[in-house]
Amino acid sequence: MMGKDKQLNKLLVLIGYVIPVILCYPFGADLDIIATPRTTVHFKDLLGCNHFHGAALNYSSLLIEEGAGVLYVGAREAIYKLDSANISNSNVSLTLEWAASPEQKKQCLSKGKNNQTECYNHVRFLDRYNDTHLYTCGTHAFRPRCAYIDVAQFTFVRFEEGKEKCPYDPNKGYTGFIIDGEMYSASQYEFRSIPDIRRNFPFPNLRTDDSPTTWLMESDFVGSAFLRESINSSIGDDDKLYFFFTERNAEPTAHSSQTKVARVARVCKGDIGGQRTLQRKWTSFLKARLVCSIPDYELQFNILRSVFVLGGSSTHERVFYGIFGLEWRNVKMSAVCQYSFRDVQAAFDGPFMEQQDSKWREYTGKVPDPRPGSCITDQHRSLLINSSRDLPDNTLNFVRRHPVMSKEIKPVGGRPVLLQRNADYTNIAVQQTVGLDGLRYDTLFIGTEEGWLHRAVKIRERNSLYVSAPTGLVQVPLSYCERYTSCFDCVFARDPHCGWDGRLCVEVASYANSSSLIQDVQMGRRGCTNITSDGFVPHRTRTVMAGDDVLLQCEIRSNLATPQWTLNGKQLQGYDIDFGYRTGTDGLLMINAQNQQSGHYRCYAAENDVWVPVRSYIVIVQPVSPRASHSSGYSSVLPERFFTTTTLPTLSPSSGLWSSSILPRRC
Ligand SMILES: *[C@@H]1O[C@H](CO)[C@@H](O)[C@H](O)[C@H]1NC(C)=O
Ligand SMILES: *[C@@H]1O[C@H](CO)[C@@H](O)[C@H](O)[C@H]1NC(C)=O
Ligand SMILES: *[C@@H]1O[C@H](CO)[C@@H](O)[C@H](O)[C@H]1NC(C)=O
Ligand SMILES: *[C@@H]1O[C@H](CO)[C@@H](O)[C@H](O)[C@H]1NC(C)=O
Ligand SMILES: *[C@@H]1O[C@H](CO)[C@@H](O)[C@H](O)[C@H]1NC(C)=O
Ligand SMILES: *[C@@H]1O[C@H](CO)[C@@H](O)[C@H](O)[C@H]1NC(C)=O
Repeated sequence: MMGKDKQLNKLLVLIGYVIPVILCYPFGADLDIIATPRTTVHFKDLLGCNHFHGAALNYSSLLIEEGAGVLYVGAREAIYKLDSANISNSNVSLTLEWAASPEQKKQCLSKGKNNQTECYNHVRFLDRYNDTHLYTCGTHAFRPRCAYIDVAQFTFVRFEEGKEKCPYDPNKGYTGFIIDGEMYSASQYEFRSIPDIRRNFPFPNLRTDDSPTTWLMESDFVGSAFLRESINSSIGDDDKLYFFFTERNAEPTAHSSQTKVARVARVCKGDIGGQRTLQRKWTSFLKARLVCSIPDYELQFNILRSVFVLGGSSTHERVFYGIFGLEWRNVKMSAVCQYSFRDVQAAFDGPFMEQQDSKWREYTGKVPDPRPGSCITDQHRSLLINSSRDLPDNTLNFVRRHPVMSKEIKPVGGRPVLLQRNADYTNIAVQQTVGLDGLRYDTLFIGTEEGWLHRAVKIRERNSLYVSAPTGLVQVPLSYCERYTSCFDCVFARDPHCGWDGRLCVEVASYANSSSLIQDVQMGRRGCTNITSDGFVPHRTRTVMAGDDVLLQCEIRSNLATPQWTLNGKQLQGYDIDFGYRTGTDGLLMINAQNQQSGHYRCYAAENDVWVPVRSYIVIVQPVSPRASHSSGYSSVLPERFFTTTTLPTLSPSSGLWSSSILPRRC
């Protein structure tokens, strides 16, 4: 079990290049998949959180050890050891420098590489090796090296060749981990080499095959998972390793002319290769297509960017989330699909593809026995096949030529759980929480591509998300209940971590009497008392001149709310220029104000069929006097702090989702 937990804890989540936002998605059954994050947290707003800035750049690998309360961070030419409870705590942080030598950097430059970015030692692998040591690998100025670190002393004890364990290029897709003293990695290690999934140690190591059929095609790896499927297996099954990637599509079909395809591949942990055929190659390598598309639309999300595997009591109940983009680089659109390992298993147990006359189609002939690509199970052992070396040649020859499964793996529910039209999602972390209604909710934390390289690792006990940027690391709490300032705000958030206690939006976990809290994750609207009068909303009186353009400000913080306006209690209809009004996310614009537009204006944030009052205005339009042509004044019935000077005649277009930034101000 230790391995499984460890695997969960070391899930690395890359939050994309320059992303200043982390989005929290509460989603219930009825939420439309074209999702808008209700609130958007910009990266700059997180800088009040605990953070860490070392001298190094490019914080690229994270290893969390909860038991010891330590977070290890691999960066450019350095490895840091931090206090995971408070990464700002400099009293206990340690630095281990690991630079490539000047000669090595010179050689890197002479290979035509960039000495500002690439010709450094970028630490890309960091994992626990044994009770006393860590193992790490770095690109080492385009000549990978690996090393053992003595944890107690936090020093290097031995260096070794890294060229088949770590990519040369710091930007190349890569995934790897150590489990039970065995190191696995997947990448296209060298520029010209074929991508490979390897067991690097212990000896004898294993790799993928490339002839006569290439198993991996320019694969770009984004993640991996280790599942202990041997536990409680009724068939004596083996543990398995899963690798997630996007690769060149070698079998375009009528349905898909796309040049790339998202995949999951798996191998068995007990695999030791074949005796003659597939010697020191995987005998259990199989791969299948991950589909993330919207039925009835031609839209296929085929570029896998990130995966997050959730825990579960058994493999078949486990699910994982994938973030996908479109192949066309000029279209920004992302989707999140959820898959079950049950469906993955079904694809690997289903029909194979075969290549004939350079075309791929479903193989309909006889499949050899024992079934090719399967792990060694009790059934094999009953045939005296105790390891992959005992597999017959016909099984192995079949495996060699049929690495692809015919059945596609479709998302749970047949469609994405989320779609986003305006952003490139790059990274995902997921937390499962039980709401006050007793139901289980998955909260997704998603990064978008907007600027800096961030990475995050999810940690369960500390309830923090670590986000790394090129110049530092930030520790973000998983929920910010206190940022919701009203009962509706708290309930609309549909955040299973938060509940309204009558006064404040509080964290459920830290509240003694949580059953008294108001929460409605399912509908996001029940429980709060309706607000009927203007109550405490800011109110002001404005006196303007006929003919003026006037902006009545009303900032709505929720991305999901729409502004609604009433004049003297009647809803303003048709915000058309013909009616003299326009609404946007920042307010109501009266164009060429006329006397009959005087009256009491109220602005509401309408969300989930509830109208929450936000602002109130008395507007008095005065006829233009010939002498005072352009002065507009106002008088107020409320303190100054509710005022903003409003002379702007233009509203920003309500571009929607990403325009509004919402403000946690505390960590
Ligand atoms: C490292 O960070 C620097 C500074 O932000 C950035 O320009 C560079 O591209 C990063 N390098 C890699 C390999 O990610
Ligand atoms: C984290 O450590 C820093 C530096 O020691 C300290 O200033 C800060 O208050 C700590 N934060 C928390 C939340 O304990
Ligand atoms: C990179 O190489 C150029 C020469 O090509 C040199 O002038 C410059 O100082 C080098 N920069 C670094 C950071 O080594
Ligand atoms: C862990 O591995 C290191 C490096 O091979 C070795 O020196 C050390 O003795 C090992 N520790 C244990 C507890 O096996
Ligand atoms: C497999 O294991 C069984 C029981 O341990 C043994 O009798 C048999 O000889 C082994 N077969 C091979 C091919 O090694
Ligand atoms: C709030 O108003 C809505 C619509 O007017 C109504 O359906 C609902 O029952 C009211 N809720 C409460 C708590 O009064």
